[in-house]
Amino acid sequence: MKILVIGGGGREHALVWKLAQSAKADQIYCAPGNAGTAEIATNVPLSDNDIPALLKFASDNSIGLTVVGPEIPLVDGIVDVFKASGLRIFGPDARASILEGSKVFTKELLAKYQIPTADYHRFDDAEAARKFLSTNTTYPIVIKADGLAAGKGVLIITTPEAAEIGIKEIMEDRVFGDAGSEIIIEEFLSGPELSMLCFVDSHTVVPMVSAKDYKRIGEGETGLNTGGMGAISPNPLYDQELEDHCLTMIIEPSLAGMRQEGRPFKGILYCGIMLTESGPKVLEYNVRFGDPETQVILPRLETDLVDIFEAIIDDRLAEVAVKWDEQTAATIVLASGGYPESYPKGLAISGLEQVSGSTVFHAGTKIANNSIVTSGGRVLTVTSMGATVEAALQLSYANAEKIEFEGKTIRTDIGS
Ligand code: AMP
Ligand code: GLY
Repeated sequence: MKILVIGGGGREHALVWKLAQSAKADQIYCAPGNAGTAEIATNVPLSDNDIPALLKFASDNSIGLTVVGPEIPLVDGIVDVFKASGLRIFGPDARASILEGSKVFTKELLAKYQIPTADYHRFDDAEAARKFLSTNTTYPIVIKADGLAAGKGVLIITTPEAAEIGIKEIMEDRVFGDAGSEIIIEEFLSGPELSMLCFVDSHTVVPMVSAKDYKRIGEGETGLNTGGMGAISPNPLYDQELEDHCLTMIIEPSLAGMRQEGRPFKGILYCGIMLTESGPKVLEYNVRFGDPETQVILPRLETDLVDIFEAIIDDRLAEVAVKWDEQTAATIVLASGGYPESYPKGLAISGLEQVSGSTVFHAGTKIANNSIVTSGGRVLTVTSMGATVEAALQLSYANAEKIEFEGKTIRTDIGS
């Protein structure tokens, strides 16, 4: 079978790497891919948002399975468009992808079906939001743009002045475009975070092994939010009791609610959860694999990923025994200097050939003049497996040190 993976980050390199292990995968294409996917697949120079061009490529090349990495094409309805042309594609349709596409929709769903989440108010008018905040006396408080904002649409607000700036930038200056035509103002929650990812078809939910993502740029979870600077799997706080609790109290009622609303979900459901003193609460839903969580989850998957994706498309997930490696996985992100703000691109990367015992997943890299250069904020992720998290981390850090590019930035406290 010919397989097309859409996207070009570390998550997509990990997806291509895992799919390539399947005996069913004859040829894999990645659009647009990166320098890492180019080593094991054929990169196709198409944007991951260009649905008509991707559809034409898949039809012209008899692609038997398309796998979508990022959220934007899912929210824009790529699954609906491919299915309408008779092409097999893995992921939720546009009606179900609203779980990530609209935070207002998701908060209303969670409230309607009594699923634990932060208390909130929604506003489509900046003046009404200001009026509400003028009576607010407790900080921090959280402001979220309704729509997709590349992970930047969540503001933790600690002063009335910052709240005013946030409302002005999101709702009036529209720094996130139409994603800011409505906002949520919600209660600040505290506690450790958990990423819970599940395989979902119309009848069955299979939770994956757990992961913990390290989101801030600075040591000790300080500084700006990033896409994620490292991850470990399993999450040390996770056990069977917590999994059962999250499935019964959060995941299953959310999926039942989606069916009730005429928006049945299938694909990858990613729930961001905060373990608060009053129990686990939903922070957000994503409708895709996480990045860098995928780089620690897929290396632990023993089952053929093509079989799992095909079973989900055909609603046969219950028939597949999904098996995991007991070892721990850890990944360290090598980011560009300046990330998550502005950073240079096109810098030479050296030392990749010296890595041993770890798998390097490329994120923001490309090939220029026959050599590998930086092309994004998160450049590479170095994943290792180990009997303990310490062993996996030690190997990843040792290999991360062998790789060089100007401004290379890593967090030295992943796993803590
Ligand atoms: P989200 O994109 O909604 O997951 O938000 C990104 C990050 O913001 C989360 O991983 C949390 O660290 C933080 N966050 C989101 N909502 C809240 C909240 N209500 N209270 C505290 N932190 C939050
Ligand atoms: N690592 C967070 C995300 O993929 O949304």
